[in-house]
Amino acid sequence: MTKSANDLGRLGLIGGTGLNAWSELVVEEQREVPTPYGAASAPLQIGTLAGQPVCFLPRHGLGHKIPPHCINYRANLWALHSAGVQNLIAVAAVGSMDKALPPGAIAAPDDLIDYSWGREHTYSSSPDQPLLHVEFTAPFCPTLRARLLEAAGRAQVPILDQGVLGVTQGPRLESAAEIRRLTRDGCSMVGMTTMPEAGLARELQMNYACLALSVNWAAGLGEGEIHAQIEESIAAGVSKIQATVLALFSAAG
Ligand code: HPA
Repeated sequence: MTKSANDLGRLGLIGGTGLNAWSELVVEEQREVPTPYGAASAPLQIGTLAGQPVCFLPRHGLGHKIPPHCINYRANLWALHSAGVQNLIAVAAVGSMDKALPPGAIAAPDDLIDYSWGREHTYSSSPDQPLLHVEFTAPFCPTLRARLLEAAGRAQVPILDQGVLGVTQGPRLESAAEIRRLTRDGCSMVGMTTMPEAGLARELQMNYACLALSVNWAAGLGEGEIHAQIEESIAAGVSKIQATVLALFSAAG
């Protein structure tokens, strides 16, 4: 059977560091969605990408002004869900602890560990919302992940098909000892935004997969200054992310 992106409905795209705007996106409407949790990071950009319906949200706001620990994740996910998004690709910049994921390379992590704290991380926090103990054994939707991997293959973009993403609080980067600890825990990459995002998507029964762009070797593992690596790798990696998402929209055999 032929699979096409049409069966993804209006695909949600959350852009992160380096992907705050998407030049190929044809925006038909900028929609401010009121939510019970306040405002999302920005108005939703509703339109098409390669002719397919999408809903784009820059996670850090227009102009990349909102740091990871100040993002209103509940409003962001609620707004995307209200706009009819069922399938969500979240782009995340990460530091890498894995030799197979050098800066500039991309991965579809298959698991995560949450080290973030103090963030509003659930909708089950008031008596008028049901108490949910959502299953989270596989935090990333296996089907959507498989579609991403298949799309990267068709776009001839190398993608690492595994990884455990440790989600830290930020906004500072980690110490070398913290990275050694994360590695001992089983993490192979580190970022600051995938939680509570992935958990909230699960509470809303949205399929969520992460496209991780390695932008630096994690603290203590690389040579030189981390910020210099980040600038270079974003430039090298963003086109891979874009090619993969565009391929997701073309029919797969
Ligand atoms: N640590 C945490 N988050 C990140 C990093 C990092 O090294 N690089 C990009 N996001």
